[in-house]
Amino acid sequence: MTETLNTNISSKPDWLSTAIQTALIERNEADVQNSVTRDEDGFYLYDLDQLELHLSSLMQQDVIKLWFAVKANPLSRVLKTLAQQGFNFDVASQGELSQVLSQGVSAERILNTGPAKSKQQLKAFLTQGVRTFVVESLNQLQWLNQAASELSCQPQVLLRVQLQWQEGEKNPLGGNEVTAFGLSCQEWQAIKVTDFPTLKINGLHIFQWGNMLSNERMYDLWSQMIDPLLTLAENLAMKLEVLDLGGGLGVDYLQNGQSLSWPTIIADLAKIKARAGVSELWLELGRYAVAEMGYYVTSVVDRKNNFEQQQLVLSGGINHLLRPAITEQPFPVTLVRESVEEPCYFDLHGPLCTSLDKLGTLLLASDVEVGDQLVFGLAGAYGFTESMPFFLCHQIAAEYVLEQGKVEQVRAAEPATWYLR
Ligand SMILES: Cc1ncc(COP(=O)(O)O)c(C=O)c1O
Repeated sequence: MTETLNTNISSKPDWLSTAIQTALIERNEADVQNSVTRDEDGFYLYDLDQLELHLSSLMQQDVIKLWFAVKANPLSRVLKTLAQQGFNFDVASQGELSQVLSQGVSAERILNTGPAKSKQQLKAFLTQGVRTFVVESLNQLQWLNQAASELSCQPQVLLRVQLQWQEGEKNPLGGNEVTAFGLSCQEWQAIKVTDFPTLKINGLHIFQWGNMLSNERMYDLWSQMIDPLLTLAENLAMKLEVLDLGGGLGVDYLQNGQSLSWPTIIADLAKIKARAGVSELWLELGRYAVAEMGYYVTSVVDRKNNFEQQQLVLSGGINHLLRPAITEQPFPVTLVRESVEEPCYFDLHGPLCTSLDKLGTLLLASDVEVGDQLVFGLAGAYGFTESMPFFLCHQIAAEYVLEQGKVEQVRAAEPATWYLR
């Protein structure tokens, strides 16, 4: 903890909101005054005021219906903000479904995606009122049909399609790799929608690319999907009314100045919608909806030179924020306090005994020292729940929200005794 805090906030990076930087500085001042250090290992802070503004701008269009991929951030207050702004919810497990329902969201606003839907889960989701499903296998289709006929209901079904592309590309959702997400057109052609009278099969779902940062590339990919999907619908004797293009809209983790233009996305999707001839076009956004409003804060435990590398060891790492280790894309970082020193590169290591625990090699002011606090940006998506919190028995990260200018704790940090048996 730094004893002297400089409140000059003029040189903050673009991704750090003034409200968040001010809140962090005030929090540190209060800790110094009270001689305490809260949430030593690390905590998340979500700017719900920023989120509300962002979501409301996404909702100002009538081209697409927006769903939120709950896996990106299932925190109650985040879901409530999304619900208030008119988002619907894509859930992929019973846990996500329960969390959305317990925010007072009605089951009609919930869509179930995911390759691991058992017969029991499908029936349980129907029993809890879910009526919209993205079906990813022939078994799922049979099981849902059977459960719907037992429960005398007619859920709406979109078939998830996996296509192969000319150019090979790898990313977390597979790209050209064969994955468990949906089925090829050839496999789907084994069915006729009329064989499933208890299901209203009227849509197709496709989503194979993640974190796209180019409008042109996105449009190109979407465009290439139309013909094979229309051919499939025709072969299945399906009236194609709904097309769901998943997520995949990216944020600029590497701070290369790349970002998608939302008005261009809407204009492009209006063209896609017309070409596909569908009455509804859906997207389930994850990171594009919530990444920018989230911050992860931790502190420096040690600083050393090693084989001419400048190393910082942090109190929190992939136990709180795993994504850089999976994707090799670091989250942007800065010092919470102001520094006028020139920046230089540091290897940022977390506290776990594995070389995987590295949050990147990133620029920080050269006077960064033990006790300094660092804030990572774009951490509102795939942060807290995508990490590996149990390894080495460190603290579970706390979660806070900033709403109407006020910081509130939603989850306290928990010691390992909370989960160890
Ligand atoms: C079915 C589905 N839709 C949407 C998303 C959200 O993706 P993104 O965060 O790229 O928007 C995911 C993420 O894995 C997903 O599995």
